[in-house]
Amino acid sequence: MCGIVGYTGAQQAAPILLEGLTNLEYRGYDSAGIAVINNKQILVSKVTGRIANLCERTNDGKSCPGTVGIGHTRWATHGAPTDTNAHPHMSNNGKFAVVHNGIIENYMNLREELINNGYHFESQTDTEVVVHLIEMYYNGDIKKAVKRTLARLEGSYALGVICADEPEKIYVAREASPLILGIGIGENFFASDVTALVQYTRNVIYLDDGEFAEITPESIKIFDCAGQQIKKKINHINWDIQAAEKGGYEHFMLKEIMEQPRAVKATISPRIKDNEIVLDETDLSVDYLKNIKKIVITACGSAYYAGCAGKHAIEKLCKIPVQVELASELRYSDPLIDERTLLLVISQSGETADTIAAMKECKRRGAKTLAIVNVVGSTIANLADHVLYTWAGPEIAVATTKGYTTQLAVLYLFALHAAKKLNRIDEQRYDNLLKVIKTLPKRIQEVIDMNPSIPKLAKKYHKHSSMFFIGRNTDYAIALEGALKMKEISYIHAESYAAGELKHGTIALIDEHQPVIALCCNDSVMEKTMSNIVEVKARGAEVLAVTFRNNQKIVSLADDVIFIPQVEPLFSAVVEIIPLQLLAYYVAKENGCDIDKPKNLAKSVTVE
Ligand code: F6R
Repeated sequence: MCGIVGYTGAQQAAPILLEGLTNLEYRGYDSAGIAVINNKQILVSKVTGRIANLCERTNDGKSCPGTVGIGHTRWATHGAPTDTNAHPHMSNNGKFAVVHNGIIENYMNLREELINNGYHFESQTDTEVVVHLIEMYYNGDIKKAVKRTLARLEGSYALGVICADEPEKIYVAREASPLILGIGIGENFFASDVTALVQYTRNVIYLDDGEFAEITPESIKIFDCAGQQIKKKINHINWDIQAAEKGGYEHFMLKEIMEQPRAVKATISPRIKDNEIVLDETDLSVDYLKNIKKIVITACGSAYYAGCAGKHAIEKLCKIPVQVELASELRYSDPLIDERTLLLVISQSGETADTIAAMKECKRRGAKTLAIVNVVGSTIANLADHVLYTWAGPEIAVATTKGYTTQLAVLYLFALHAAKKLNRIDEQRYDNLLKVIKTLPKRIQEVIDMNPSIPKLAKKYHKHSSMFFIGRNTDYAIALEGALKMKEISYIHAESYAAGELKHGTIALIDEHQPVIALCCNDSVMEKTMSNIVEVKARGAEVLAVTFRNNQKIVSLADDVIFIPQVEPLFSAVVEIIPLQLLAYYVAKENGCDIDKPKNLAKSVTVE
């Protein structure tokens, strides 16, 4: 995720910006830059790679003198991680510089309009449209130019803007991306994250969506979207730096679980235009899709389990057979793959060695490759014929959460989009399912809000040394990921099992020492799974069921129930997994585990 910081006051701005950016390093980034106003001129310095390179380039800020400035760490989304794509971005006349977090969804249209108006673009970023719009609307009043620009933007943003003609002012704006104003004495700040500010001030104002502000050394004026000045509460931060990095959460994993509504929204919403899924990034033609014999999904770990859930959606909607293969197996299996196979490669990091090897093998056999990846410019993204990025932002906890759910979101978009292209779904069902996809971020938030008692359940279940996760069909795909989460962070043995398969041997293990987590969110197999609950209860197991909020029948069967909002089963994994992530998290916490860095695991597995 990008980080932004800004300063206006009496001190030299550049060292403060560099310090602030250094404090944001933990968020992950691939390039960084600062812009400072000096004698009514904007000096910009930006580099690919570490902040240390930027410190070296600017002689620790000394080569960028000036007391007003903005800084940025970039996590590439639109355009590769290069010096040119790094922020701040400058207007053509050199009077304005902008830093931006978020995604401007309508940037293509704006870019075209600006080019037609004679503006030229240096970078491939979505952000650059903002600075040119400000230049276009500026006629001596920066506030007016910013306000008009904001009215043109669709998507999410935390913005910082400086203007050489009004050298003490910084303008900032927020829409669906965090932005905090820091209040000093004779100086003021802004940042995307309190971590960048706590060493300078602990008095902060949180901007809300649709608000913008003018910051000078002596004042902070905040406006609503109509430009009316408003009053906001000043908050005092008493977190230490470490807690601030985690946004006040105890662990990155919990922070990342809570970020999922935003991450899934960021992944979905730029790809829905006028009630239509638009996957510009892929250009898979109808003829190509009609001609393929099968889709093979390959990945490792949670990404593989996302594929298992995605298979149901793709097969049901597109009527194309889907095979999900572990990358470490596929490579050595002499696979039946040729040019009539579409290979979907799923990876958060884009650097997993087994996945890369499997992908190369399938490419060699003629398959076209479509990668679902979180890291722009990663090896898998570079190798693939087409890429659909998950816009989850950097994931810091080793165990994936938002990486997994955003992979599911992309798989759902792909399934519904391809079904429409192939004419295998009628308009009505397409519209209904698209509505379901659009509401998924809200459903995720609801499931988080509905379940404050998960820590209490964790206190009950954490003492067991082994547990089972059961489900059928789409519920089984989620059981796989739920059990993995439990194993990797709590070190409790957890086995995922297709509920109907238990009786073929494994039920011998079920007794009062084996709690069973039963997933019951798919109407078509609900009754069957409920029978399996009865079977395991009869053998003494305690049962914790996860089901839809209106399924009261299950209350009399299970010992404990976690309710989730009702969601179309084809897309329910993205909601159903949330309580399982939280359960694993709180169980691991009860057991005193190192949650963000579980033993024996690495975030990116670059060895075979
Ligand atoms: C589990 C987890 C791993 C990864 C797997 C693949 O929480 O994070 O199982 O899913 O190592 O990693 P990527 O997605 O980076 O290819």
